Amino acid sequence: MRHEQIETNSGLLIALTLVVISIGGLVEIVPLFYIEETIEEVEGVRPYTPLELLGKDIYQREGCYLCHSQMIRPFRDEWLRYGHYSLAAESRYDHPFQWGSKRTGPDLARLGGKYSDAWHVQHLTAPRSVVPESIMPNYPWLLENDLDYSDVADRMRALRKVGVPYSATDEGYRANVERHGPELADQLDIAQAEDSLLAQAKSANFDGLAGRITEMEALVAYLQVLGTMVDFSQYDEGYFAEFR
Ligand code: HEC
Repeated sequence: MRHEQIETNSGLLIALTLVVISIGGLVEIVPLFYIEETIEEVEGVRPYTPLELLGKDIYQREGCYLCHSQMIRPFRDEWLRYGHYSLAAESRYDHPFQWGSKRTGPDLARLGGKYSDAWHVQHLTAPRSVVPESIMPNYPWLLENDLDYSDVADRMRALRKVGVPYSATDEGYRANVERHGPELADQLDIAQAEDSLLAQAKSANFDGLAGRITEMEALVAYLQVLGTMVDFSQYDEGYFAEFR
């Protein structure tokens, strides 16, 4: 009887529908207000260096996420293929996160260190020259375009606003020295962004080109750090070790 009263009274039906839906909404949304507590601290997870950060921006610009996910789910078939499942903390400094929803190509969450820099340069320039059956597009302009790093400090400032601990103050710098060590703290210092970007590009030379810093350089720096921040050998002893 009550049911009929509700269904024939559209005002009441709408009000009750809203009440029911908002319970579901609250259950999803409320934990996000406590996100700082929801994501646990994991040793090794750090913000991207300026060079890696620009690489991530190129990854987004080129739409790599349309074919590649960056989230290994905790199912056996996933971690046998890709490695340890992803931790929430591993994408805490990704704004926006790159979990993706489509795997035309393989997941890239633990890509870092899997291939050499030279392999990436070759593969991104002409995927079919290393994987003949590949359907991935060519990205030859990454080697042609010089990297525009003039706004890297602004990009870091913007990320600082959403909680990435790039330092802009002495206090922030000291906190980073404590958390990440002096060498990395230098790289996370907004005032030194350009210098540390140039130093990293020069010392690692990700694109193999001397004297030039290309978009390829930044993208490969980013790809090579994916999934490498946490040292899983400390944790792998039990369950995962069995399958290695
Ligand atoms: C149209 C879909 C598509 C797009 C867009 C795409 N890829 Fe791929 N990617 C693939 C496919 C398919 C493979 C598997 C074959 C191969 O290795 O080339 C692949 C493989 C890869 C691999 C090797 C992964 C491994 O573990 O072997 C890397 C690295 C990669 N892609 C990076 C990128 C980057 C960076 C971009 C953006 C600049 C990109 N891809 C854009 C489809 C795509």
